[in-house]
Amino acid sequence: MTRVGAPGARGSDAGVGARGSAIGAHPVFARCYHLLSPLAERGGTAEHRQELLEGLQGEVVELGAGNGLNFAHYPAGVNGVLAIEPDPFLRSKAELAAARAPVRVTVRDGWAGQLSLPAARFDAAVASLVLCSVPNAAAALAELFWALRPGGELRFYEHVRARDPVAARRQDWADLIWPHLGGGCHPNRETVDAIAAAGFAIEKVRHFRFQPSRMTAPVAPHVIGRARRA
Ligand SMILES: C[S@@+](CC[C@H](N)C(=O)[O-])C[C@H]1O[C@@H](n2cnc3c(N)ncnc32)[C@H](O)[C@@H]1O
Repeated sequence: MTRVGAPGARGSDAGVGARGSAIGAHPVFARCYHLLSPLAERGGTAEHRQELLEGLQGEVVELGAGNGLNFAHYPAGVNGVLAIEPDPFLRSKAELAAARAPVRVTVRDGWAGQLSLPAARFDAAVASLVLCSVPNAAAALAELFWALRPGGELRFYEHVRARDPVAARRQDWADLIWPHLGGGCHPNRETVDAIAAAGFAIEKVRHFRFQPSRMTAPVAPHVIGRARRA
């Protein structure tokens, strides 16, 4: 595996840090996510992934790729994807998905905020259902900003804090237990604001509710969008 700041590292897997799987791992969540995610895919997530990745081009870094459910949706204009996944179980599933992907996908261990990605290396970054879970979303976004070339874009698909204050308050209550059940996932993050605070220009955001099961009410408010690095 390529280590942090490896001298002479080249290509879309260059310079990925190694910290990850041993720290903050959620083995039960990982297995549940893999088991249940096909239901969500059939319930609408697959269509959201298609919308998320439509028209993407060039070299891409994907943060927290999970079991690789985005991979099948990368369009032909993508030259290569560096997919980071810290959980060893999900990473093994992502490697299987990478082998079937329509574009070249390299899967690596790594922990958001500590990837030591090369500066301005990527044309696009993808964050889907992950900025809710990283311990420090600002650090993760700063890292993606750093790794994107000027003019590069961030594509995001995330559940977010509700715009309705009453629903947001309910998310705050849910946040007392949700992270313990959902692999560190926080239902109440202001993710679009965090993307803007990291220096990205938000170009497009579609807000919508998506709730594939009654259990997922606290994470029903979603966004799909694009932001650009100046
Ligand atoms: C809900 S899953 C989403 C997986 C995938 N992005 C998708 O769209 O299906 C959240 C993912 O974030 C990953 N994750 C959590 N903390 C992370 C971190 N600090 N750095 C990178 N990935 C992280 C988890 O291992 C998991 O794969």
